[in-house]
This record gives sequence, structure tokens and C-alpha cells, in this order.
Amino acid sequence: MPDWWQDAVGYEVYIRSFADGDGDGIGDLQGLRRRLGHLADLGVDVVWITPFYPSPQADHGYDVADYLDVDPSFGTLEDLDAVVAEAHGLGLKVMIDLVPNHTSDRHPWFLDARASHHAAHRDWYVWRDPAPGGGPPNNWVSHFGGPAWTFDEATGQYYLHLFLPEQPDLNWAHPEVRAAFDRILEFWLDRGVDGFRIDVAHSLVKDPELRDNPLLGDAPAPDATPQEVFAAYDHRHDLDQPGVVDIYRRWGEIARRHDAVLLGEVYLLDPARLSRYVDDALDSAFCFPALKTGWDADEIRRMLAACVAAGASGMSWPLSSHDDPRAASRFGGGARGSRRALAYLGLLAGLPGVPFLLQGDELGLDDGDTAGANHDPIAVRNPGAVGRDGSRTPMLWEPGEGFGFTTGEPWLPFGTNRADEHTAAVQAADPDSHLNRVRRLLDARREVAAVAQGAEVRWLEAGEAVIAFQRGPVVVACHLGEGTARVALPAAGGLLHATADGAAVDDATLRLPSDATAYVRLPG
Ligand code: GLC
Repeated sequence: MPDWWQDAVGYEVYIRSFADGDGDGIGDLQGLRRRLGHLADLGVDVVWITPFYPSPQADHGYDVADYLDVDPSFGTLEDLDAVVAEAHGLGLKVMIDLVPNHTSDRHPWFLDARASHHAAHRDWYVWRDPAPGGGPPNNWVSHFGGPAWTFDEATGQYYLHLFLPEQPDLNWAHPEVRAAFDRILEFWLDRGVDGFRIDVAHSLVKDPELRDNPLLGDAPAPDATPQEVFAAYDHRHDLDQPGVVDIYRRWGEIARRHDAVLLGEVYLLDPARLSRYVDDALDSAFCFPALKTGWDADEIRRMLAACVAAGASGMSWPLSSHDDPRAASRFGGGARGSRRALAYLGLLAGLPGVPFLLQGDELGLDDGDTAGANHDPIAVRNPGAVGRDGSRTPMLWEPGEGFGFTTGEPWLPFGTNRADEHTAAVQAADPDSHLNRVRRLLDARREVAAVAQGAEVRWLEAGEAVIAFQRGPVVVACHLGEGTARVALPAAGGLLHATADGAAVDDATLRLPSDATAYVRLPG
């Protein structure tokens, strides 16, 4: 793991919604470049940019038609170079999103593959004859609704897609696919990027026999949402297959030569299954269980204990993501939800590993209400299903029409977040704003990381509503209950930081208000 990654804080830029530099309503690289100062001031270290490659945008860039270029709606390769150079000048590292599980159906590899059985790229994808009697070759389902197979009339076979039909899965058993991605990694590393967030990192390898996934219980109802249908199966043959980490070991050799980081989107909800990915393959894996809990002390305590036991220093802790509701909404919404989201960030940031904010988390934003204007294919193609647009609403930079995000018509509405007090400019001027509280928290976190480096997490008993642990000379405590908690410290200490007003240390007792996290420094 590169030194710079240790104790870093990450930030997700959802490029379409971050900052629009050319007035077409879609965020882009020039817009991002102009706003890099905000990220440096915020105190994050690493910026992850979601896919900006040429793409028909069937899944908003996660359907890549050329891995070695920039989509004109986002800018040019020179714009990317400028973002990287300026970010580096500000002390920020840049990670880009690598999408190796599938390409776009418009990628030249797939266009060639579907042309004939004998095409050079045919076996770069997963093709099978119909099942005896017709129909898809097995019972796998797509994350986005319907079967994971689409019949291709021209050659009379089905192709596999764990996501949209416009996102055919690559065949990672093919050595040329592996070699092609080695070159893609080298291309971007030579351009100066500092690492990759690897999309769907748990799924590249599939069962070679493509066996059916067993149902966990009853078959899903005919009107079940894609998420419900997906959850009805034991995904033992399409996810988390034995050979997948070999790919990351191979990439690790390339990344190490460039002091770069590999961070996997390993979307597995059993933390124990993450260890294998980070033990000697990836530098880090997103810990998605951290993104799924409600505001419940017991639930969060048990989840974090399991994640820490699986290896906290290999974890990246997402506060929110472009695929899930924002933390403030998850924790109840409004001012209370934002305050809780800040406390939760304090808790995650007190652990070893890398906390990640989604753009807008620093403003305490809720999910925007996008009803009637949805873009996410999950919502658009599956009536009744909840899509992911709520956490993708555009950034609010300053008061005024377009909120400094765009001079044009935003591609997705701002939704319920449309208010001047939510903008970065208004919050920057108010010392008590969410934005300034996040800045102070990240400052304090740097101090915690410096003194607690290498120390194990030791869980402390602090009552039902408080989650507390010690790392070296620091105690981290988060109060999820009502009123003020009194937390007995292992020794007398001094308050380093609290995410809300009203916390105090009196000898060996921490007084902690509701929905707040505190860092306490013990002697030694
Ligand atoms: C990941 C991305 C998500 C995308 C999917 C398919 O989960 O985060 O946005 O839809 O992969 O590429």
C-alpha cells in the first residue's frame, strides 16, 4: 500500500453532477478543475472521479465504449491531464473509475464479437446457446431487472450481462482480455493518475460451468423489484468466485510500479468475505455494510465490529455513494439527519482505513426528490422500483439560478435541496455550518491518525446508546441515543474534537450530547 494512502480521506466526484464548465447542464472536467480548491480546503486527500470515458450513457458512464479517451460531454484528454496536474499542485491524489466487468454494447470489441461466431473478439464476451427447449442458458438475473442474458438474433446465441443488456460482461477467462486491461491501466498511470476504483470488483470471474444460482427461499413475486429479485438468490456462481483476486494480484504489480492504489467496489455485505480481497491483492475495498445501517447503536456496533475484525486498515468507509441514499437521508433527513451523518463520519474517520464522502456530504445534503424526472435505468425501466437518482442530484455551489452548478438546465433537478443555506458559498461564511464542521472534523482526524497510527481498535463498554473504542492514546465515542451520555474513559483525558456543541471531558468522564461523536486524547 503506498504511504500516501495510509490515513487518507477520500471524496467521490460524481462527474455528471459536480460542476458544469460549459453550460450544457452536465458536469464535466473543466467544471471539476475550477472547483478543486473546494476539495483542497475541505481537507480531503484523494478524489475519485466516476467514469468520464466515451459512452452512450445507458448507465451514466458505466457502459464504456472506449477505455482510453474522454467523452466529449465531459471534455478531452487534455482536460483530464489538467485536472490531474492541478490536483497534484493542490496536494490531491486522483483516482479514476475502471469498469472491467462489462463494456458498452457499442464498444468496438462487442460490435466485432456480435458480428459472427468466428470474430476475433467473440470469446472476449460470454456467449451460450439457448437452453434445451429455448430460453436463457441459466437462471441468473440482472441487477437492473430481467434475466442476465439477451438473445442475439444475428448469431443465434445469448450473451451474458449482469447489468443492462447494453453492458455485456467480458470473459475474464480469456488471456487477451487480461492483457488488454494491463494496457489500460498502464495508459492512465502513465498519464499520472494515482489509482483506480474498480467497478463491480467481486464479479469479474464467473463459474466456468455457468451453473444456476439456487433460490434462498420462495421464488420472487412477479411484481418484485430488481433489488428484491436479486436478493432472492444465493449468488454462489456469479459473484465472489475463487480466481477473481488473481486479477488484482496481477494489477497490483503494475500499480506498485507507479505508487498507485487499487480500491475495489467489492459489493459483498458479509465483511468476512472482504478479507480475501485486501489480504494481498487490492490495497483497499469499500466496506458496503457501513452504508446499509440505520441510526441504531446496536446494529452499527455489530456491523463495525465485524468489519474491523475483517481488517480495518484494508477498508474504505463510504459515508454515502451514488448508488445508495445519502447518509443524511438514511439517518432520518433534515437537520437531524445531517447532524447524525456528521457524527457517523466522525465514527468512521476514527477507524483505521479511508473514509469516503460523496459530493454534497460536506454540505449535509439529503437525497433530492427526483420524482417525475428520473434518469437511472433502474427507475426508468422498472416501474415502481426505487432508483439511484436521489443521491445524484447536482452540487449546490452558490445561491442563484443553477446554484453555480450550471448556467444551463441541469440534467437532473436539484430536488428538495434547493435552498441557499445548503450551498457551499453560504456555508463557507458560517463557522457553525455543516461544511465548517466537516473541515474541523477532518483536521482533528489528521491529528488522531498521526498519534494512533498502527494501533489496534479496542472496543470499550460505554452503555447501550454509545459506540466507543480506543486506538492508541485516542478514544472515539459516538452517542446515538437521546439526552447527554456520560462515558467513562479508561483514564483522564482532554477533548480533542466533537462533531456537535456541548461535549466536555471532566477528569475521566466524557459528556456527549445526542447524535454526536467525540475524540478524546488520553495521556501517553
Ligand atoms: C457499480 C456502479 C454503478 C453501476 C454498476 C454497473 O455498482 O457504482 O453505478 O451502475 O456498477 O457498472
